[in-house]
Amino acid sequence: MMSCLDSFAEITRQDEPLAPYTWLKLGGPAQYLIEPRTMDELAAVLQCCQKEKLPVHVLGEGSNLLIRDEGVSGVVLRLNNGDFCKVEVDGTTVKAGAGALLSHVISRSVAGGLTGLEELAGIPGTIGGAVIGNAGTRSGEIGTKVVSIDVMNHEGKIETLSSEMIGFEYRNSHLGNAIVISATLQLSEDDPNEITKRLRKTWIMKKASQPLSSQSAGCVFKNPRGLSAGSLIEQSGLKGTRVGDCEVSDLHANFIITHENCTSDDVLRLINLVRSKVQDTHDIELELEIKTWP
Ligand code: FAD
Ligand code: EPU
Repeated sequence: MMSCLDSFAEITRQDEPLAPYTWLKLGGPAQYLIEPRTMDELAAVLQCCQKEKLPVHVLGEGSNLLIRDEGVSGVVLRLNNGDFCKVEVDGTTVKAGAGALLSHVISRSVAGGLTGLEELAGIPGTIGGAVIGNAGTRSGEIGTKVVSIDVMNHEGKIETLSSEMIGFEYRNSHLGNAIVISATLQLSEDDPNEITKRLRKTWIMKKASQPLSSQSAGCVFKNPRGLSAGSLIEQSGLKGTRVGDCEVSDLHANFIITHENCTSDDVLRLINLVRSKVQDTHDIELELEIKTWP
């Protein structure tokens, strides 16, 4: 059957396995994986999806994402080309495409003598993913630096949203399923040596407390108000607990580490086990931080 997607054959892969695109190295195929090259092409793809009633998901670096084994129907978009990855520094303002890596935006800012993002050093992923989930640490969140973002709606129209409209919260925003295409950040000037010192310190502390060289999606659960999910999980005696080929990290109990023969189903079963044990021992319900598809 003819579909308007046929005209995007050059940038489309059908039944494309998604596991290699995620940090957990898990998940089944996307019905269509599409990598638009320009804004116009993205708009045209979105109009087509709207017309054919195809669900649309945006994939960043897959560092906060568990894709189920059965895969994802509809269209998975990656904004990894051209303008989508551009980073522009103008005075103390940084404008970054949604597909730009957060690490790249941090290094560009630091090189320009700009402070404000050092506390986010070591967080994987794209600017789009960071904005959607208000990526952060105990010392700061990206949302406090965002002046505005551009989103494209499902008709292919671009809108600018102010920080108030985005509604940043702890590891959350009110963006729903809007497609982020860029973010404008307001930073400030500081002594480059001081910035570099803070950057190093953040990085050293992160490396010491989190299993950064293993396959993971970062913290699996949000911290309940005033508490630490990692410490609750450790107190429940769960460090090192295995289901199939995944386990609760010995270094940081809010990380699940996957090994070679792991499936998404293993991770989901381990998540349920951790949740019910923490519920039993502490009477606290842990909420997922990672996103699950579909
Ligand atoms: P993905 O995982 O690809 O996607 C996450 C969600 O964002 C999905 O729902 C996706 O649809 C959506 N999304 C992505 N891009 C767009 C877009 N352009 N438009 C609309 N929606 C979009 N997080 C922290 O906050 N703090 C940490 O300290 C931290 N440490 C981590 C350490 C490790 C080792 C790992 C693996 C992860 C860590 N994380 C941390 C989690 C993760 O890095 C962040 O959540 C990151 O911001 C996700 O970005 P991403 O591009 O990988 O998003
Ligand atoms: N702790 C334990 N056992 C563990 C892990 C932690 O007892 O296995 C204790 C620590 O000793 C410490 C307390 O819990 O006293 C807090 O630990 P940590 O400083 O490591 O911070 P966290 O609350 O576990 C949060 C974020 C991280 C972020 C760090 C650093 C959440 C869910 N996690 O972790 O973000 O990197 O602070 O600021 O908010 C992520 O969101 O994916 C993520 C990794």
